[in-house]
Amino acid sequence: MTIAVPTRWPVLVAMLHWSTAALALATAGYAIYLLSPPDWSQPYIDRYMAGIGLHKAGGLIVLTLALCWVALRMVTPRPPLAVHGGMRRFVLGVHAVLMALVILLPLSGYAMDGFAGHGLALPGNLAVPPLLPRSDAAATFLSYPHKWAGYALLGLVALHIAGALRHAVDTEKGDVLLAMMPWASARR
Ligand code: HEM
Ligand code: HEM
Repeated sequence: MTIAVPTRWPVLVAMLHWSTAALALATAGYAIYLLSPPDWSQPYIDRYMAGIGLHKAGGLIVLTLALCWVALRMVTPRPPLAVHGGMRRFVLGVHAVLMALVILLPLSGYAMDGFAGHGLALPGNLAVPPLLPRSDAAATFLSYPHKWAGYALLGLVALHIAGALRHAVDTEKGDVLLAMMPWASARR
């Protein structure tokens, strides 16, 4: 018996890819905006205090979407990827790191907040209590990997977009972009 290999991603997988990607980028961009004021005068401290809850809420939604995506992918075969050997391993490796980052970033953010003893004050007066012992040293330590993982995500996404666009113009390699947009009509 032969099992048919799909030529496109299922709609739900594609929707989870695009929504996780858009929200993760917005979450990272918003944190960088909040944390790069021209100076740390009171209005910018107030802006940070007012906005960081939205960053955290965005990050937790990213975590939820990413976990649904991983669970769905465990039972969904991937469409063919027309690259081989070392390049194939590289592409799949970048995918794996991207997937890991959209899970580890929110978890590290949540842990950082827990160690800082903040709990999670979310927009709309919602709160999750801190589930970790208070440790300012651990919170400060974690803020560095959290920040650099956020920047690494942005760098890897740039590489990932370049790869996807290259494959979109070189259709000999299969149009991976179209495969990630199963609702779009095929090119002639
Ligand atoms: C935070 C942003 C992003 C993340 C975390 C991300 C992550 C991923 C991951 C993990 C995969 C592999 C899917 C799998 O095997 O299940 C993938 C595939 C793909 N992504 Fe992204 N992505 C992001 C943004 C983008 C953007 C902006 C584009 C636009 C060009 C894009 C285009 C694609 C395409 C075309 C594929 C299919 C590649 C293939 O079939 O091998 N991604 N992405
Ligand atoms: C996709 C998820 C997330 C991404 C991409 C992300 C990204 C970032 C980045 C890039 C920064 C550093 C900005 C800068 O210094 O220029 C940052 C800071 C921060 N993030 Fe996140 N984050 C995510 C989720 C979370 C979550 C879920 C929480 C908490 C529950 C959180 C809490 C924080 C806090 C408190 C800071 C400020 C740290 C400091 O003062 O140095 N983040 N985030």
